[in-house]
Amino acid sequence: MPVDVLLGLQWGDEGKGKIVDVLTREYDVVARFQGGPNAGHTLKFEGVTHVLHTIPSGIFHEGIVNIVGNGVVIDPITLMKEIDALKKMNVEVNKRLFISRKAHLIVPTHRLLDAASESMKGKEKIGSTLRGIGPSYMDKTGRNGLRVGDIEARDFRNRYDRLKNKHLELLKNMQSDQSVDELEKTFFEAIERMKTLNFVDSEYLVNKNITEGKRILAEGAQGSLLDIDFGSYPFVTSSNTITAGACTGLGIAPTKIGRVFGIFKAYCTRVGSGPFPTELNDATGETIRKQGNEVGATTGRPRRCGWLDLPALKYAIMINGVTDLIMMKSDVLTGFDEIKVCTHYKIENKVIDIIPFDVVNALITPVYKTFPGWKEDLTGISTESDLPQSMRDYVSSLEKELKVPISILSVGPDRKETIFRKEIQKKFSAVGAQ
Ligand code: GDP
Ligand code: IMO
Ligand code: MG
Repeated sequence: MPVDVLLGLQWGDEGKGKIVDVLTREYDVVARFQGGPNAGHTLKFEGVTHVLHTIPSGIFHEGIVNIVGNGVVIDPITLMKEIDALKKMNVEVNKRLFISRKAHLIVPTHRLLDAASESMKGKEKIGSTLRGIGPSYMDKTGRNGLRVGDIEARDFRNRYDRLKNKHLELLKNMQSDQSVDELEKTFFEAIERMKTLNFVDSEYLVNKNITEGKRILAEGAQGSLLDIDFGSYPFVTSSNTITAGACTGLGIAPTKIGRVFGIFKAYCTRVGSGPFPTELNDATGETIRKQGNEVGATTGRPRRCGWLDLPALKYAIMINGVTDLIMMKSDVLTGFDEIKVCTHYKIENKVIDIIPFDVVNALITPVYKTFPGWKEDLTGISTESDLPQSMRDYVSSLEKELKVPISILSVGPDRKETIFRKEIQKKFSAVGAQ
């Protein structure tokens, strides 16, 4: 069976965790392929709200294999905290979770380097989550990194010390005087506890599952506009968040990719710095933030809010080969008289519908198309025909413009608040049956 991929088409926080959890019953394996604890994936069901950072969003389902792939960077401290929280909820984590030996480790000094690098950048800072993501991927590509498999080596401590000493030199040059001692103690406690987990050669495990006809869903983190190659560089994260990242982050051949679920909010949000052409620094933006509860799931920072950006969405659809769109948080737009959608960018009197190379410095004025809003509360609606007519018109206009079907509409944070449209009901037995 080909591997399906689910990933974000905007700047992250589109609702990937919710939909992976909803779709998990259609799969045997759920696998994270990149990013690390910069991610915060929120799941809501049976009155429980839970945020996952490293662990795949299929973990709550019995009998599902959850893999953390080689493309992920793992902070042992965060991972063990996540596992403790799941165990408190009686989730059989050890049985369901498999971790790639080739995944890189985030060590305490990576976090210090992240903080020092951000502080040196001053006003130009990326607004990173300060989880050590950038420095850890730098060590990976710089061929200095430590991997999960190294934990099994007798001289792990030596390997760690070599890397740490290198980092301490760098930190000295960066005028950072933060101490690593306390974090280091917790790190080694977490490393000891990690030894009870299932370390695997995940590329073999994934491909064995493919050969056996198992259904696999690859779960992305962050969003396409934060991709290291295609995002608004340098205001991006340090991994490939796009479909290609699922190949390198799990060891899957491109010919084995099946459907690509591209997930987007009915509007846009962004945390951290960087260009955001449709950002609303006004009362409308504030209303979206309030109604959408737009606060970062990892850092608690308020998210910047704005209207939907079609040039950016089309770009993301193009580089990912999206086969199915999933529109999230439609309920948040309830109550607006009008809803705007950016169809083009205007730069120095030129109207374009592509993202310019120098998006960071370009003075972009969004060109909007206005749609009538709707006042009806969407809570509890489970059938498309019960949705307000203006929302249905909004959805079909987007589909026409984007040329990809919108297969799922999300109208609330809970698992149940999900509408499966005809197209996807045909493909998936269980979702169609509900
Ligand atoms: P992820 O990182 O892509 O998994 O998304 P986050 O969990 O960071 O952010 C999405 C937020 O929106 C979470 O608080 C979800 O509980 C919430 N959410 C997801 N889908 C919907 C929806 O359709 N409507 C509303 N109102 N909230 C949603
Ligand atoms: P999920 O998976 C939203 C943003 C940070 C910052 C930039 C770089 O929950 O959608 P990093 O710590 O990666 O070096 O930060 O990327 N960022 C996210 N924004 N959702 C995320 O993950 C993010 N992960 C990183 O805010 O702007
Ligand atoms: Mg998130």
